[in-house]
Amino acid sequence: MSTFYITTPLYYVNDEPHIGHAYTTILADVLSRFRKNLGQDVYFLTGTDEHGQKVQEASLKRNMTPKEHADEYVKRFKNAWIDLDVKYDFFIRTTDLNHKHRVKEILTFLFEKGDIYFDEYEGLYSVSEERFITEKEKEEGDFREIKKIKEKNYFFKMSLYQKRLIEHINNNSNFIQPTSRKNEILSFLKKPLNDLCISRPKTRLSWGIELPFDSDYVTYVWFDALINYISGVGWNQDKDKFERYWPANCHLMAKDIVTTHCVYWPTMLMACDIELPKKIFAHGWWLVDDVKMSKSLGNVIKPLDLANEYGSDSLRYYLMKNMVLGQDATFTLDSFIKRYNADLANDYGNVINRVFVLINKYFNSLVPEPGEYSQTDNDFVKNFEGVEGKIFNFIEEMKIHDLAEYIFSLIRSINKYLEQKAPWKTYKEYPNQKETTATTLYLAIESIRLCSQMLNPIMPNKTSIVLDAINAKKISFKFGEIKSGQKISSVSTLFPRIDL
Ligand code: ME8
Ligand code: MG
Repeated sequence: MSTFYITTPLYYVNDEPHIGHAYTTILADVLSRFRKNLGQDVYFLTGTDEHGQKVQEASLKRNMTPKEHADEYVKRFKNAWIDLDVKYDFFIRTTDLNHKHRVKEILTFLFEKGDIYFDEYEGLYSVSEERFITEKEKEEGDFREIKKIKEKNYFFKMSLYQKRLIEHINNNSNFIQPTSRKNEILSFLKKPLNDLCISRPKTRLSWGIELPFDSDYVTYVWFDALINYISGVGWNQDKDKFERYWPANCHLMAKDIVTTHCVYWPTMLMACDIELPKKIFAHGWWLVDDVKMSKSLGNVIKPLDLANEYGSDSLRYYLMKNMVLGQDATFTLDSFIKRYNADLANDYGNVINRVFVLINKYFNSLVPEPGEYSQTDNDFVKNFEGVEGKIFNFIEEMKIHDLAEYIFSLIRSINKYLEQKAPWKTYKEYPNQKETTATTLYLAIESIRLCSQMLNPIMPNKTSIVLDAINAKKISFKFGEIKSGQKISSVSTLFPRIDL
């Protein structure tokens, strides 16, 4: 069985989960569920980034230790993922003992190898990003607080691996996606790469993983956090697991953290002689009023408020459908409600309601026995040919929005088919030819099963209600699975219309 290992970024534990975090995590969940349904052995990792300046400061304000603070705040992420039906395989925290050990092992290895050295450095330090920045970055970027800092630190010889990294990117066209991000990184790599400062003196910051070779220092938060992608899958601990899933098939994130993932992380792995991930995929940003959502701007959309009001499935569907993977998308409540009414209430909800009511009325809620297929029936069934392969291609190409559109075009084709065949008419006008009506409703309910199974990774709750009602346990993308004569239970309105 082929394996698939997918990750999200480790979110800063200080933040309250918003639509942006929810998007990446739901996307990873949707991709995982699709692949599981197609029979792959999937491992889905998410978690929280808990060391560093900001966590230390936030905990001080709350009169707590950083660990106590993180223990409390991590629950906001864990609860959000429960409420949004995210089924990860493992939730990693960078304060986990196992993770800390693995980070120290890497540090020791690189120090002994000579890839980490001690030096004095004077430079510009961005307090909000917790890293040294260059003059050029200062000019181009929007850093709120910059300090000039002169201090002794440990450095990772990132520059040693620059050439190999460029070669790797050029030889593996799928390594960084979409292409715009790949080009951005390649152009960044045209300038000589600086070595990476990987320590912070405890006099300035104590909340971090202590360097195994110098107890006056802690590890730079990014160097620590990136290692989660291997510590979370058994590196240097559970050999079978690590060999089974590594290299990761996909590191998902938004475009804000591409440099750390496409430059720091691969060079760290090269230095450790560990294979590189197969793909790093950066999606765009969710914008609110055309600017990026952020805590400091106070324009965050809380996913749980929406999920509580309109259901987690509706939110999941909206997020998957309304963002073209790779581009930015704008969140508005208006677009959310329009999407909900058009696709969920009208198309999907309506077809289910119609077919269930007709089967109840004409066939006493038993799945009818189909007769000979007419030309119209055959044409309709043809729409569903090769769906499994199509789903696979969409997810391989990371075109979830197109996949959602494809599934909905099938759903609309069921409504159209019903209009063409008008079973309410054939039933009344040709009482002796019950077979025609039976065939129509058989194909309609069977296609509802298929579409519901296809939609299941995006909307696990509502589709399960439908699938349970028709007793469809086995996942199959072929026509003719549903048994005639079996009873179907009734379902109440799945997506009541929202009045604007
Ligand atoms: O960067 N639109 O954590 P973070 C879309 N701890 N996605 C968004 C978004 C938006 N407006 N805002 C956030 C960190 N995201 C580090 C990562 S990884 C080893 C360490 C999502 O809490 C998106 O996935 O700032 C983005 O890359 C991530 O949250 C940043 O999360
Ligand atoms: Mg951020």
